[in-house]
Amino acid sequence: MSVVVLFGSETGTAEEVADKIAEVLVDHDAEVRDMLEYEVSDIDTDDFHVIICSTYGEGELPTGAEPFYEGLVEETPDLTGLRFALFGLGDRLYEETFNRGGEIMAQKLIELGAQQVHEHARHDGSSNIKPKAQAEEWAQELTGLLAG
Ligand SMILES: Cc1cc2nc3c(=O)[nH]c(=O)nc-3n(C[C@H](O)[C@H](O)[C@H](O)COP(=O)(O)O)c2cc1C
Repeated sequence: MSVVVLFGSETGTAEEVADKIAEVLVDHDAEVRDMLEYEVSDIDTDDFHVIICSTYGEGELPTGAEPFYEGLVEETPDLTGLRFALFGLGDRLYEETFNRGGEIMAQKLIELGAQQVHEHARHDGSSNIKPKAQAEEWAQELTGLLAG
C-alpha cells in the first residue's frame, strides 16, 4: 500500500498542507497529487488516500477540486475498499458553510463505497492555528493508524 496525498485548492493553502502531510508520511511512500491532474481512473483502491480540500463561494468546492468531483459524479466508480482521511480547509466567518467543501468531497467518496478513517479535520482560517501546524499534528496521529 502506498499513500496518495490529493489536494483540491483555490489559492494554494491546500497544496502547502499536502506537502506538509507528505513530509510526515514519508515512510509510507506518500506522493502529492493535484486534483486538477488526477483522473478518476488514476484511483487505485489499494492506496490510502489523504484528501485535502478547501471551500469556496458559498460552501462550494474550490476550482481545483471541481473536475475531479465531476468525474466522480459522472463515472460513478466503485470505490469499495478505498480508505481515505480528509483534511478540510475553511473559515468560521462563513458560519453555516464552514468547511463544506471537504464535507462534500467526503460524502461523495463514501457514497461510492469508500471508507473514511481518522478524524475529519476542519481548519479554521480565523483561528490562530496555522494550517500546516494543524496538518502536521493530524498526520502524525494518522501515522499510527496506517502502521496498525
Ligand atoms: C471568496 C471566498 C469564499 C470562501 N467561502 C468559504 C466558505 O463558504 N466556507 C468556508 O469554510 N470557508 C470559505 N472560504 C475560506 C477558504 O476555504 C480558506 O481561506 C482556505 O484556507 C483556502 O484554501 P485554498 O488556498 O487551498 O483554497 C472562502 C474564502 C474566499 C476567499
